[in-house]
Amino acid sequence: MDRPRRGRKHLIAMVGLPARGKTFTARKLVGYLSWLGYPTQAFNVGEHRRVTHGPGQSHQYFDPANREAAKQRAGIAEEALDEACRWLRGAGRIAVYDATNSTRERRQSIAERVEAEDFELLFIEIVNDDPAIIEANLRETKLRSPDYEGVPEAQALADFRKRIAHYENAYQTLEEDEGAWVRLRNRGAQVVINRVYGYIVGRVVFFLSNLQVSNRPVWLTRHGQSVYNLHGRIGGDASLSAQGAEYALSLAAHVREVFSPEAHLDVWTSTLRRTVLTAEPLGLQTGSWRALDEIHAGVCEGMTYEEVERSMPGEFEARRRDKLEYRYPRGESYLDVINRIDRVLIELERYRTPVLVVTHRAVLRAMVAYFKQLPIEETPHLEMPLHTIIKLTPTAYGCLEERVPLPPRVEG
Ligand code: SIN
Repeated sequence: MDRPRRGRKHLIAMVGLPARGKTFTARKLVGYLSWLGYPTQAFNVGEHRRVTHGPGQSHQYFDPANREAAKQRAGIAEEALDEACRWLRGAGRIAVYDATNSTRERRQSIAERVEAEDFELLFIEIVNDDPAIIEANLRETKLRSPDYEGVPEAQALADFRKRIAHYENAYQTLEEDEGAWVRLRNRGAQVVINRVYGYIVGRVVFFLSNLQVSNRPVWLTRHGQSVYNLHGRIGGDASLSAQGAEYALSLAAHVREVFSPEAHLDVWTSTLRRTVLTAEPLGLQTGSWRALDEIHAGVCEGMTYEEVERSMPGEFEARRRDKLEYRYPRGESYLDVINRIDRVLIELERYRTPVLVVTHRAVLRAMVAYFKQLPIEETPHLEMPLHTIIKLTPTAYGCLEERVPLPPRVEG
């Protein structure tokens, strides 16, 4: 897979009342599409408002009867859309326009603009009619918003509820004749798709249909040291070294400490021996995925980096210059790895029970880059030591990372 730089440009416009999870969804989408290599950026109208007029407007500002404020808000929304279109005319491939876009009239004007620019438009409507979900969204995100900095909690909640009520009065849900859209109801409990065709938007919809809003952590680790690691050899299907076998035991002991047997921990490995053997002492049923196999080094499999440098200096230099896009002759690039583990990540997003993934360095780099929404260029350079468990916990504001090293006691 090459980096998808050319092709149609897309404007994805969010639709929904405040506190429905639009920004969370927009952020996840930007992370996912950027990770796949599509230059993607979010344009958030609330942030534009705060930059232009400062934070802290009370609910009256959002009342449609407040003519002066309504004019100001329309201007800000237009500015953010201008910025998104400007970016798409340049280096951008996908812009996510994060605003309420809650009336048919507003959406019509976006559609006209997008058509004039010759971009493709997709609306994503987030609907929540579960009061518990709305309350959770309110508490998890809005109370932390700069709009309510220093405001006592009860007062902030009351004001935000009034803000929502202003929007509710004018809200119009998407209708069939409004082009391509997807509606996600109650955190994906129901997904309705209207006139969605094409590869990128199809991928967006598939991703969103599997997205769970949860703080469920994911545990990741490389396999224990292999005999190939010991000799600095790339790839292959070697067994574990003595240190690697000891790591497998330490990992099992650690997992028993952290998870009760009722936790229903799922363990996923690659199909290669070193990950399967690392998971073995856990005594749990494991699923093995070919998609989790290490980057395939093609003709360089089994060689050391010194041997590659000596016998294929051109390849060595090309890889040094651009480790992300470099593809081993008859092997893979990091972008190929990203593309093939996409399905594992979508499955991980969908899971509700804890999962431990035992895999390889390049695959782990790609997975950590996805969860932490790191720039794609950083992926091949992330530090992924052996004999370390990485716990990633998603939050409304990003992903927390904790690393637990379990150094071996025996000599390699
Ligand atoms: C905001 O100003 O916070 C959002 C405005 C909107 O999208 O309606």
